[in-house]
Amino acid sequence: CSTILEASINGDEPRFSQQQQPIIRSDFPSGFLFGAATSAYQIEGAYLEDGKSLTNWDCFCHSKPEECGENGDNGDVADDHYHLFMKDIELMHSLGIKAYRFSISWARILPRGRFGEVNPLGIVFYNNIIDNLVLKGIEPFVTIHHEDFPQELEDKYGSWLDPQMQDDFVHFAETCFKNFGDRVKYWITINEPNLVSEFAYEKGVYPPGRCSQPFGNCLAGNSDVEPLFVMHNMLLAHGKAAKLYREQYQPKQGGSVGLVAHCFMYEPITDSELDRKAAERAMIFNIGWSFDPPIFGDYPQEMREYHGNELPRFTQEEKDMMKNSIDFIGINHYSAIYAKDCTNSSCSESANRVIKGFVEITGERDGVLIGDPTSMPRFFVVPRGMEEIVNYVKTRYNNTPMFVTENGYSSPNVQDVQVEEILNDVKRIEFHQAYLASLASAITNGADVRGYFVWSLMDNYEWAQGYNVRFGLHYVDRQTFDRIPKLSARWYQGFLKNNSLID
Ligand code: NOJ
Repeated sequence: CSTILEASINGDEPRFSQQQQPIIRSDFPSGFLFGAATSAYQIEGAYLEDGKSLTNWDCFCHSKPEECGENGDNGDVADDHYHLFMKDIELMHSLGIKAYRFSISWARILPRGRFGEVNPLGIVFYNNIIDNLVLKGIEPFVTIHHEDFPQELEDKYGSWLDPQMQDDFVHFAETCFKNFGDRVKYWITINEPNLVSEFAYEKGVYPPGRCSQPFGNCLAGNSDVEPLFVMHNMLLAHGKAAKLYREQYQPKQGGSVGLVAHCFMYEPITDSELDRKAAERAMIFNIGWSFDPPIFGDYPQEMREYHGNELPRFTQEEKDMMKNSIDFIGINHYSAIYAKDCTNSSCSESANRVIKGFVEITGERDGVLIGDPTSMPRFFVVPRGMEEIVNYVKTRYNNTPMFVTENGYSSPNVQDVQVEEILNDVKRIEFHQAYLASLASAITNGADVRGYFVWSLMDNYEWAQGYNVRFGLHYVDRQTFDRIPKLSARWYQGFLKNNSLID
């Protein structure tokens, strides 16, 4: 049976839609890669199987279950993808996606980091995934590091706070290039280093739970500069791994390497000069912080002026290494949000200062939200943000090739939600249609965007929140681990066949 999407919404107009006609596949270039994304800790489970060691997230969630999600949720079993990956590749195949973005569990292939041996069973697991993707004509898009790493690296030297982590990361990356690079042509070194620095070292809500200001249960005490140092180590780790890839692997393997950042679109909360400057500053302190070093070789001047000597410095040799160290920019975009100046007006104590850019971010103006709320406190549905962020990145980085490496929707949490309601996810369809229309408009106006990944292939463990936050195209039954396609999975399938119908 075929149902035109509009008709399935009980006669209501799609609420998030920006366009008259529903977006269709042929509104995008033919070689454009449509895919879906996941990450290891969020889906794999098997947290102690076949030689994998404990990770920072395993230890954090075991020691502070109340901080990991409702009901003490964690990734011990997750979606049991470790055992069910063949089924999941089948799901991808039946959706018709042409690319799958996933991450490698560092602790599964190098349980002791560079202090121990490669775990052959870990290599076998990812080889199986990659081989089967290739067999189905699905391009593997591999994120080398997405949040989880062997706890030993935390215990031994404090992980990302210490430059030694750069060496561990390069060793890990090289292990991936060596073992998988014959088939993997798209590498992402690190996922969202800007968000990790903020959430793990400023807000303290991700492991190792350090914070520079009092937030929730996290008592202030660390130095304000920790997030800046963590980012510096992550950026250098990226630069060194990219250099190695470019020199030793790219010539033979012919792939490309990118970096992914968490990319909000900041909009000024008022028209005042100060708020407009605050929004610009927030963009620079997030996007510029993440991509200026790997493209221009150094941090933005505005950050240097604000932070002075607190902002770490790259040596000349490091600047040369960092410069042009990415082939593509990965944009994880979910939301636009208001930026309010804090240099000249008071901001709330716990205001997000965008790592000290003196900007407060908020989704609300005069009691009105910037867009429909979701289950994520800072994510609102603002489709125009997609076109705006892509245009910002395009202009700032001279149209370096881009991929939208994540975009997705999770509906606000409802107590005792029924499975039927979860499966009938009309709002998720409207979300993707509207964001895709916004993206198509940027591409039509010349932005070099080459692919789009839905977050996520299936419902999974959401960091520090658990399983009640659902971004998936597929529902996962937490008892049986059955994957059930939501209406959005059927929509994506139809969209990829170039129609706006639900098959
Ligand atoms: C970005 C992260 O990469 C992913 O792991 C997370 O689940 C989604 N955003 C949703 O918050």
